[in-house]
Amino acid sequence: MIIDCDPGHDDALALLLAVGDPRLDVRGVTTVAGNQTLDKTTTNALRILGLAGVADVPVAAGHDRPLSGELTVAEDIHGASGLDGPDLDVPVGAVAGIHAVELMRRLIAGTAEPVTLIATGPLTNVASLLRDHPEVRPGIDRIVFMGGSTERGNTTPYGEFNIVTDPEAADIVLRSGLPVTMIGLNVTHQALATPEVIAEFRAMETRLGDVCAELMVFFAGAYRRVFGFDHPPVHDPIAVAQVIDPAMVRTVTVGVAVELTGTYTRGATVVDLHGRAGDDRTGDDRTRNGRTGDDRAGDGRTGDGRTG
Ligand code: BDR
Ligand code: CA
Repeated sequence: MIIDCDPGHDDALALLLAVGDPRLDVRGVTTVAGNQTLDKTTTNALRILGLAGVADVPVAAGHDRPLSGELTVAEDIHGASGLDGPDLDVPVGAVAGIHAVELMRRLIAGTAEPVTLIATGPLTNVASLLRDHPEVRPGIDRIVFMGGSTERGNTTPYGEFNIVTDPEAADIVLRSGLPVTMIGLNVTHQALATPEVIAEFRAMETRLGDVCAELMVFFAGAYRRVFGFDHPPVHDPIAVAQVIDPAMVRTVTVGVAVELTGTYTRGATVVDLHGRAGDDRTGDDRTRNGRTGDDRAGDGRTGDGRTG
């Protein structure tokens, strides 16, 4: 797998989960502008991998702005560094001397087994890869991204941050016809860093555990201040967790489109939960069994839909 990220407090935990779980084979980490500027998200990725003692995974920096328009960072949530809270060491590793999209291309071309792309930031790098190197498509097993929502947003009333930051990129990914799993706010708002979770990090009695605790304490403060939440939703690790154990998140196969032009809703994900749109905008398997793949009717199986 390849992780494309914009660390970011929850991206940091997603990275740690990915490199720490023996069931995953992380071949590369690529960074994108989002929560903070590209130089900061890249430095933060190196800091986190250094903290985890990971030296053998290449890191490459990607796009420093969305495909269209200006970058607006999430300093209110992630602070001036993008990873405010703990006192983190200067990065030990160095970035690969190639663009993130080129690193992705080479990694996918260089392995016989299809690669899973996990994206936890704006989809700028992933969209560029698909647009500029369509030959890599057979080498991609599926794309799992954190972003969007079946419900309301967090950056605009209906727009989630990663999609609002680069709606055109999300549109390319969702129209790609590849298997895509969307891990939206409707899922991630169930994964909270409660005081009990933070206490578990502290109880590890390691530098890594303390850093995770301090990251979540800062994140909790930001979510309390900005949204009035008691506990912060830890979005990005859910995308990694869903790859580790797909049964952890029930998915349904439905059409998902991105609003590109709405007066108030640019960047909103329009999720056709009830199969009402009557088209195949995502190219996904919406006609399976003549329904949208929702198993709420109670057949007890985890849906095998890919746009969850
Ligand atoms: C997403 O936006 C970022 O602030 C987080 O890192 C996460 O990827 C949540 O909307
Ligand atoms: Ca992120």
